[in-house]
Amino acid sequence: MFKNTAAWVPGPKLPLEVKSAPYTRPLANEVVIRNHAVAVNPIDWIVKDMGEIIFGWIKYPTIFGCDVAGEVVEVGSSVTHFKIGDRVLSYALSMNQKTVGPSKGGFQLYTVLLEHMTSAIPATLSYEKAAVFPLGLATAAAGLFEKNQLGLEYPTVPKSLSNGKTLIIWGGSTSVGVNAIQLAVAAGYEVFTTCSPKNSNLVASLGASKTFDYKSRTVVSDMITALKGKTVAGALTMGDGGADACMDILAKCEGNKFISMATYPKPKTPPKRFAVPIGIYTFVSWSAKNWVKSKTNGVNTIFIEASTVVENGVGKMIFEDFLPRALEGGNFVAAPDPLVIGKGLEFANEAVEKQKAGVSAKKVMISL
Ligand SMILES: NC(=O)c1ccc[n+]([C@@H]2O[C@H](COP(=O)([O-])OP(=O)(O)OC[C@H]3O[C@@H](n4cnc5c(N)ncnc54)[C@H](OP(=O)(O)O)[C@@H]3O)[C@@H](O)[C@H]2O)c1
Repeated sequence: MFKNTAAWVPGPKLPLEVKSAPYTRPLANEVVIRNHAVAVNPIDWIVKDMGEIIFGWIKYPTIFGCDVAGEVVEVGSSVTHFKIGDRVLSYALSMNQKTVGPSKGGFQLYTVLLEHMTSAIPATLSYEKAAVFPLGLATAAAGLFEKNQLGLEYPTVPKSLSNGKTLIIWGGSTSVGVNAIQLAVAAGYEVFTTCSPKNSNLVASLGASKTFDYKSRTVVSDMITALKGKTVAGALTMGDGGADACMDILAKCEGNKFISMATYPKPKTPPKRFAVPIGIYTFVSWSAKNWVKSKTNGVNTIFIEASTVVENGVGKMIFEDFLPRALEGGNFVAAPDPLVIGKGLEFANEAVEKQKAGVSAKKVMISL
């Protein structure tokens, strides 16, 4: 129907290969879009580097990429929210166990997407700005709103009145963090967050009330002091060391002693050999230390799995109900800024390597 091309992942640890791909028609509850911008997330290189350990259900060759923005070209028979030509963003789900498969990946011209994980975007929002949202937003929403995570009140448009509770967001300048700050503020929470000093203005502009430098030696005691007299709603953590620090902080605060953790422990450098045992050892030894500290400090922790929002109502609430209205009304902004590596799938490898090398408040992506 349409001629498709993709940046295929041939297998773990291998560079992407640009070549033709089948065009897949949508099922009843799906849409197909022609991608115009696709962003890179840490998971794109983490799974490629550590493929044998995590997401063992992925069969290669496949197509990665979770963040897409583009134009609807075909809709399934039961789709009611979209028509051909609509401008949208969506969380692409080729890594999700239930939807796994190359047709659902972002790094191709045409991607098959679930209707309820897709949002209409305003005419004023570029595709590049729209593509910064999906996985960061879904991860933030999973940690903040799922009942077995922090279970916070849902966000509203316009934002809810203050509920008097303060949320800690460790890693406020990450892609997950910038979305989490805006969601929590829209739900009525005060936000204390961490970032490098150069990103303080950014997180403040998104609604954070206080920012702390996570590299400061006094960050834990500074936060404890600032939280005196406050009721804490818990903590959402991104980045190595965040959960550990937040356990020390929450142990000394009043309120919800609970941490939703986005960052999984992994070896500092991807092992060249024995990836499976080294990966398992890193996870198990970290978990054992975390368990002991959690019991000692009386703070509960849980890992986030972003794609759980697909089936538990949180994804629908965010992508179908909240985001389109919030974007239209100017109540939610695209952050961090897109960093476009180039136009074309040929730039996908470079984009993945750029995100792996590390970014500061930037969303690496390609235009198509
Ligand atoms: N569990 C899930 O389902 C899921 C889904 C998506 C992402 N994640 C994880 O969530 C984390 C964030 O992902 P992302 O895409 O948002 O990352 P990102 O945008 O690539 O993060 C970049 C930012 O990380 C900050 N940072 C670096 N080291 C940090 C640390 N030790 N503590 C706090 N902040 C630190 C830097 O802040 P400054 O520049 O201000 O220093 C930088 O701006 C990653 O670990 C990722 O693997 C998990």
